[in-house]
Amino acid sequence: MEAFAFHNPTQILFGNARIEELGGILKNDGIRKCHLIAGGGSLRENGAYERIQTSLKAAGIELTETWGVQANPTLDKVKEIVEQLQNSGSEAIIAAGGSSVIDTAKAAAAGCFLKDPWNAFTEKEKIEKALPIYTVLTLSATGSEMNGNAVITNTQSRQKWGMFSPLLYPKLSIIDPTLQSTLPFKQTANGAMDAIAHILEFYFADEKALSTLAIDDALLRTIVEMTDRLHYNAQDIVARGNLAWSATLALNGLSGVGMNGGDWGCHGIEHAFSALHPEIAHGEGLGVIFPAWIEYLSEKTPSQFLRWARCVWNEDTVALAVRRFRNKLHDWGLAGSLRELGIKQNELSTLLDMIMIQPTIGGVFKLNKEEVRSLLMLAF
Ligand code: NZQ
Ligand code: ZN
Repeated sequence: MEAFAFHNPTQILFGNARIEELGGILKNDGIRKCHLIAGGGSLRENGAYERIQTSLKAAGIELTETWGVQANPTLDKVKEIVEQLQNSGSEAIIAAGGSSVIDTAKAAAAGCFLKDPWNAFTEKEKIEKALPIYTVLTLSATGSEMNGNAVITNTQSRQKWGMFSPLLYPKLSIIDPTLQSTLPFKQTANGAMDAIAHILEFYFADEKALSTLAIDDALLRTIVEMTDRLHYNAQDIVARGNLAWSATLALNGLSGVGMNGGDWGCHGIEHAFSALHPEIAHGEGLGVIFPAWIEYLSEKTPSQFLRWARCVWNEDTVALAVRRFRNKLHDWGLAGSLRELGIKQNELSTLLDMIMIQPTIGGVFKLNKEEVRSLLMLAF
């Protein structure tokens, strides 16, 4: 097992009726003015918005708001929010929604103190300061509620890039699984696939991190089982809660302990899909590329993928496990190919150029341009 550092400063409040504690917590933290960031309106439909307002009002906290963060969030929106934050003199941000909202909040929290928020992504400027972020999670998928990452699309340059800063871990995140009962099953499944992908990005990186792998096996199996239960019954609160917590653990540091930082090639590839086509959900794009990536690489080094086949899918060959994986995603209604995602054959070379900003992609399985071309063809 490799040397590692592990630290996660985010406080989690998990369970029903935790939103009501938010106002009191902010007040205790000395916050008097807060800015709420939200998406297209689901926050009103699931009742969370009203509950946040009531809790803040009771604590005497002033609230300003920005709505309209879109899925696969943009730099333009981040800049709009930075301006609002600077004008309103807000002392903290409440990000209430899925990761698009939370990541926008993070980029704006840091962007307030930068010449240009995009400089955090290009590393032209170092993040030295950020406004504190409190999140109310409404869609479990990325783990953004308990990590320091943000992923934003620069629409002009067609770059969907990520960044990390230890200053961007939310101070506190409320995970109330009941808020997710309003999700269409497709969004639940997209989120589940994203969480699966986060674990898989680490899973094949080091076969000696046995304790981490044992946790990862359990998380992968639990995510599949809970998603199946939610497919059958969206109101299954036990399944909703366990899926939510598994998704948080999938990218809060725990699932990658001792894994050398993982591979992240499939994420780099998928980010190009949803940068070119913002209507593609990140999780669904990963559901196309990850099985293809395992299939492609396991032809060269099958032994590296055998543990996954056995421990997660109870299969003796990788080929059978990949088939089970694909069938499961198909059952959940996710796309099975780039074509089904809506990508055209004549877009593949543009995608390849967007993906290959370095000579190779992937921290462990370093794929060159020709290999990624073959992989895209396999996934098409
Ligand atoms: O905009 P609203 O109306 O809120 O609707 C959202 C949105 O349309 C809806 N939704 C959220 N909660 C709901 C709900 N609908 C009904 N009931 C609820 N309770 O779901 C839609 C998708 O939301 P979004 O926030 O885009 O989804 P997700 O959380 O999957 O975030 C995806 C984004 O995160 C990035 C992805 O690339 C993508 O841009 N990632 C962020 C990471 C991170 N910060 O660590 C890592 C990931 O690998 C990923 O790249
Ligand atoms: Zn992801």
